[in-house]
Amino acid sequence: MFLKRLECSACGVEHEGSRLQNLCRSSNKPLFAIVDLKAASRTMTREALLAREKSLWRYREVLPLPADVEPVSLGEGGTPLLGAPKFAEDVDLWIKDESLNPTQSFKARGMSVGVSMAKYLGAKKLAVPSAGNAGGALAAYAARAGVEAHIFMPRDTPRANVVECRELGAHVTLIEGLITDCGAEIARRRENEGWFDMSTLKEPYRVEGKKTLGYELAEQLNWQLPDVILYPAGGGTGLIGMWKAFDEMEALGWIGKDRPRMFAVQAAGCAPIVRAFEAGEKSAAEFPNANTMASGLRVPKAIGDFLMLKIIRESDGGAIAVDDEQMVRVTPEVGGKEGLFICPEGAACFAALKLLRSANKIASGERVVIFNTGSGIKYLEAYDRVSAR
Ligand SMILES: Cc1ncc(COP(=O)(O)O)c(C=O)c1O
Ligand SMILES: [Zn+2]
Repeated sequence: MFLKRLECSACGVEHEGSRLQNLCRSSNKPLFAIVDLKAASRTMTREALLAREKSLWRYREVLPLPADVEPVSLGEGGTPLLGAPKFAEDVDLWIKDESLNPTQSFKARGMSVGVSMAKYLGAKKLAVPSAGNAGGALAAYAARAGVEAHIFMPRDTPRANVVECRELGAHVTLIEGLITDCGAEIARRRENEGWFDMSTLKEPYRVEGKKTLGYELAEQLNWQLPDVILYPAGGGTGLIGMWKAFDEMEALGWIGKDRPRMFAVQAAGCAPIVRAFEAGEKSAAEFPNANTMASGLRVPKAIGDFLMLKIIRESDGGAIAVDDEQMVRVTPEVGGKEGLFICPEGAACFAALKLLRSANKIASGERVVIFNTGSGIKYLEAYDRVSAR
């Protein structure tokens, strides 16, 4: 057993890892898994990894599931890191293509680990508010685990996500409103219904799956982290997870003290972190009238806001907003030059790269990694709508 305990990311209060937990009992903030890195390092060495399976379960010793328990897996992780020399001639650009995960998005990572733990700890009915991709991923992993999935999505969630959840056997409810309204509906009903709330960062283990983005990136770059990371931030779980992974890898002696400059990329129509960053605030106020085609970025209020803000400041990175028009313009450019049909959230990062280069916040020759967090295929109506104009 490599999981030592859970610890609050805000106040440090300890919680048991041996039962189902949501937020910190004392501060209502996210709990983090504390892994026994000393024990992990006995078997998980950089050399040992070379012989292991490609999925994210290759990092088994730093994941919370006990070693003798079978994970709920569909082959998540192990996605390619692709050079993108044609899109950006003057920086050393790489794309981590997360659209190759099961259910075509990086949400598979979090759900594989989150559902594995929920099942192991006895949950039978899982509920999640989703912008779309997290719902699809929960539906798939819940089916695989033999537990119920109850998914709440805004009515205008991309059609592909809704149909996918339905065909995977989930209970789907469409809500008039935003992801925050979906979360509130679950909070109201979960006790009566016996649901375990799988909202991102409101349970401790999805972020553990997402942290494998950081492990994989380091491994693929031969343990040399890039200068800059551009991440499309909604709830921010990937950004927060990667930062945790970097700290763990430093403790393991795998990397040094240097960190990439972390940029949270948001949509101009929903940019709570950008606003808070620019205002010098430690947490972010709810963004009014959130609206963007990048449905994964339509998160007006995130429980991990304070963690994202801390990370982008500590790393000397930043937060930047991109409007839908810029996402739409850059998508066929990436498609035509690099051969990837990216999602609007990924597109936001490519547009942000152009802005950050013009502002000289990224220098010529720097190594930059963009996360294409999902597939453009899930957003056909959004891309159709704009190309028909
Ligand atoms: C494709 C895509 N990219 C990015 C995000 C934002 O991810 P996070 O909540 O980890 O910030 C989402 C969330 O729904 C998404 O679906
Ligand atoms: Zn706390």
